[in-house]
Amino acid sequence: GTDEVRPPVRVERDGVVATVVIDRPKALNALSPDVLRALAAAFDELAAEGDAVRGVLVVGEGGRAFVAGADIRSLATLTPEEGAESARLGHRVAAVIEAFPAPVIACVDGFALGGGLELAMACDMIYATDASAFGQPEVRLGLIPGFGGTVRLPRAVGLSFAKELIYTGRRIDAATAEAAGLVARRFPDREALLAGARATIDEVAQNAWTAVALAKRVLVEASGTPTATASDLEVAGFADAFRTDDMREGVAAFIEKREPRFSGR
Ligand code: HXC
Repeated sequence: GTDEVRPPVRVERDGVVATVVIDRPKALNALSPDVLRALAAAFDELAAEGDAVRGVLVVGEGGRAFVAGADIRSLATLTPEEGAESARLGHRVAAVIEAFPAPVIACVDGFALGGGLELAMACDMIYATDASAFGQPEVRLGLIPGFGGTVRLPRAVGLSFAKELIYTGRRIDAATAEAAGLVARRFPDREALLAGARATIDEVAQNAWTAVALAKRVLVEASGTPTATASDLEVAGFADAFRTDDMREGVAAFIEKREPRFSGR
């Protein structure tokens, strides 16, 4: 049927908000190498648009899953070297998302497991419906997380809870994930989720694009580094703000008691 010829990733646009749709619902949107390459390409193309894109939503098609993990079938026969290559591809997608100069919101409605949770954690924040479930079930397959789960899950929820989740492979619901700090915001259904995510991007878009991009750069690069390194990165980003027209406009507007008109430069 037509399902087989559909590209596994598509980008929809609604003004300044782009939505990246992972569209492999029959496999619960599992991340095959093709899907991962298409995701990286989608973000590269959106990044080339500069400040025309003020935020990206990542969603899974089909209503049952955000992403149920790396594609288990394409992992089955890999050599150790090919396994490393596959993990590196996932890390490359995470790096492209983290380098993207505007916020990326993982909109989770359903399963976010294994590589699916890792993809969500590479985004700036996770919004989720109550129908969602999160976990790193790799050890149940004789694997370990390979797209950043051992790196980003402890940063999100703390080492103790991360170890419990990774060693047991158990799934947690959206309320538990929200209480743990993994999920930033929780919604009753998909419609409310997407509206909430768009509202956040619209709110961010009121601010200086340059400043948001600088804040993201510092937050991403400083994450997990020692205090002194993180502080240096913040100082460098703060200094970079002084190179922008937006900073001069924002400060002048405050002093002149008027609304700023940011140019994104
Ligand atoms: C390939 C998958 C898949 C996956 C689901 N499917 N997850 N295919 N890779 N990760 C496919 C199923 O084979 C099935 O195809 C269809 O999607 C529907 O799934 P069902 O299992 O029939 O649905 P259900 O019984 O409702 O169970 C849902 C589920 C289960 C609990 C999410 O599918 C599941 O446990 N999936 C695997 C989750 C997982 O282990 N993820 C981690 C992967 S390892 P057919 O053709 O039979 O209809 C990983 C490592 C990352 O992510 C690092 C790599 C380097």
